[in-house]
Amino acid sequence: MKKYNVGVIGATGMVGQRFMTLLDNHPWFDVKVLAASPRSAGKKYSDAVGSKWCMDVEIPEAMKDIVVMDATADIEKIASQVDFVFCAVDMKKDEIKALEEAYAKAECPVISNNSAHRHTPDVPMIVPELNAEHAEIIPAQRKRLGTKRGFIAVKSNCSLQSYVPALFPLSKFGIKDVLVCTYQAISGAGKTFETWPDMIDNVIPYIGGEEEKSEKEPLKIWGKVEGDEIVPATSPNFTAQCIRVPVSNGHMGAVFVRFENKPSKEEILNIWKDFAGRAQELELPHAPKQFLNYFEEDNMPQTKMHRDLEGGMAISVGRLREDTQYDYKFVCLSHNTLRGAAGGAVLMAELLCAEGYMD
Ligand SMILES: NC(=O)c1ccc[n+]([C@@H]2O[C@H](COP(=O)([O-])OP(=O)(O)OC[C@H]3O[C@@H](n4cnc5c(N)ncnc54)[C@H](OP(=O)(O)O)[C@@H]3O)[C@@H](O)[C@H]2O)c1
Repeated sequence: MKKYNVGVIGATGMVGQRFMTLLDNHPWFDVKVLAASPRSAGKKYSDAVGSKWCMDVEIPEAMKDIVVMDATADIEKIASQVDFVFCAVDMKKDEIKALEEAYAKAECPVISNNSAHRHTPDVPMIVPELNAEHAEIIPAQRKRLGTKRGFIAVKSNCSLQSYVPALFPLSKFGIKDVLVCTYQAISGAGKTFETWPDMIDNVIPYIGGEEEKSEKEPLKIWGKVEGDEIVPATSPNFTAQCIRVPVSNGHMGAVFVRFENKPSKEEILNIWKDFAGRAQELELPHAPKQFLNYFEEDNMPQTKMHRDLEGGMAISVGRLREDTQYDYKFVCLSHNTLRGAAGGAVLMAELLCAEGYMD
């Protein structure tokens, strides 16, 4: 595989910092550009990120001295220095939409962690194991944007990164209704216990916009490419409650599911055990070998024990049992800033490189 020069927009943030750790010594990607707000622009990365650095490893040597660029003012310059950018910024939705389109129109593909373009009909929202074929929409998007290379591809919200992977492979049984309660880590809000002390010994039963995303985004993942757009599926029918819990990293989901044709427990467990997607077929660098990992023990998976499974890219599942109101219930877990954010974006970029969309 050839090497690609990449940039990270929003490099100083929580997700941006994760990108630094994942892209350090990446076999295919060389980080050439880091960008953030005008507050950080012109500073060395280590000074710009300063005490906000909250990864459990040091800032990679290769990134420390890179001078941070201005994500908006330097678009043309950045686009001329890289093959594509990762983007994770905290800005208003319409500003993010415009920023990402400006990079794409400067012929610089954007792999985005932001929600702004998730429902743009010709922007694929890809989980490489589940709906890799949605990348086929990219030529239609390029046509709309008037670009040769530039396009936007997005990652889904972190909340659904545990339950959608567990449910998607069961689609052949006709998934009718899904009720999910998510128990979400504070890093999902870009926070640590130091920056959000009110979360110590606390639970907050509201995460702005999260329940809507948790219910609506899965339907795009289940959707189909039709002509110049991805048409969202009309089922399964999702209802969600999203709750912030005092955990540093790792989102857990408690799922109840009803099928058209109820499978046996053994059928479900066998499907999870054998499931592999395009990411595994292509042996992408960040693809977990075993995507869905089922734990037989009643008290597993546990956030602290299993969130880092396979570099935080694998999904942990447990407690599958019959329910009195739905057909089954189970619990699932994924690392929200790895599989749920930066790691999922890196894996998507690897997929798009391997499939030739970045050439
Ligand atoms: N945390 C998660 O688990 C997670 C998961 C999935 C998706 N996301 C999404 O990823 C994005 C970033 O989240 P985060 O948690 O990393 O946020 P964050 O820690 O608050 O970081 C925000 C980043 O955006 C930059 N920024 C702010 N205003 C800007 C501007 N006007 N121009 C350019 N850059 C600007 C900041 O730069 P300065 O340091 O210079 O201010 C910083 O690099 C959000 O859209 C979020 O919804 C987060």
